[in-house]
Amino acid sequence: MSKKLVAYFSASGTTAVKAKALASAAGADLYEIKPEKPYTKADLNWMDSASRSSKEMKGGIKPALADNGAGIENYDVVFVGFPIWWYVAPTIINSFLEAYDFTGKKIVLFATSGGSGFGKAAQNLQQSAPNAEIIEGKILNGSVTADELKKFASRFD
Ligand SMILES: Cc1cc2nc3c(=O)[nH]c(=O)nc-3n(C[C@H](O)[C@H](O)[C@H](O)COP(=O)(O)O)c2cc1C
Repeated sequence: MSKKLVAYFSASGTTAVKAKALASAAGADLYEIKPEKPYTKADLNWMDSASRSSKEMKGGIKPALADNGAGIENYDVVFVGFPIWWYVAPTIINSFLEAYDFTGKKIVLFATSGGSGFGKAAQNLQQSAPNAEIIEGKILNGSVTADELKKFASRFD
């Protein structure tokens, strides 16, 4: 059995709910990826090209993390969850991947979105963890049963 971690970033709570359900179904530890400076509602306004999220995503700006306590060295498989922003992963996920040594580890992506798929998320994240195997896992929109999550996680046992 591989040792699993579910690490997630969630700006408004949707991905957090899925991450907790996945960790419990997978028997994995749970870690929240947090920015040093929390996002406000105005920061998340994607209609405003001057908002923090727009500027980060367009400029490839990687926000600072609140901590470096994920303990990645203890795990073989790391599920990494996030909301889809502008068809990819928020750049804080790049910050997270660059903060640790993921050499030889499996990174399995999961996400929530307003309907988009992973887009180029995996491709963009690979640059931040060049020595890891990044796998496009699952978009977890809508209701997802514990059974489905168990089946998904068991692909990486
Ligand atoms: C800045 C920003 C950009 C977004 N871009 C997309 C997008 O490109 N495609 C999409 O389907 N949803 C998009 N969304 C919607 C979120 O992916 C969706 O609401 C997600 O479930 C939020 O997760 P959270 O509550 O964990 O932050 C965007 C949301 C924000 C705040």
